[in-house]
Amino acid sequence: MRNNMTKQLGVASDHAGLELKRALVAELQGRGIAVRDFGTDASASCDYPDFAHAVGRAIESNEIERAVLVCGTGVGMSIAANRHAAVRAVVCSEPLSARMSRQHNDTNVLCLGARVIGAGTAIDIVDAFLDGVFEGGRHASRVAKIELS
Ligand code: RB5
Repeated sequence: MRNNMTKQLGVASDHAGLELKRALVAELQGRGIAVRDFGTDASASCDYPDFAHAVGRAIESNEIERAVLVCGTGVGMSIAANRHAAVRAVVCSEPLSARMSRQHNDTNVLCLGARVIGAGTAIDIVDAFLDGVFEGGRHASRVAKIELS
């Protein structure tokens, strides 16, 4: 895994994603990647938007540049995170989409479903997300068109 980030990688989960998030954090830290955990840190039932919005605010304020969010399916996290103008979040269950989302869509938030994929696949997806580099050019003008004026 290449680490082309200058800031910590944000991570967050709800209760459903907690175990997978912990496995990912252990893997990432083992590779020397600095991680900032926005919660949850307890297995009690909680609300995924609280954590998605905490990460969205941190991206908007430039505290972090990229993040990985984990809930049961990744869907709720992605919907909530994408309400932030500075966030382009993608849900992935295989590595190709994660890599292409970086190269073509300049995504900055990866959402994973702990009830959908196992830890091994999740690590492969995070690798692809962290390795992927935005290609710019024609993709930059397309990404710019995503925003509603
Ligand atoms: C929690 O049960 C579940 O709804 C949540 O983790 C997530 O999958 C929502 O999209």
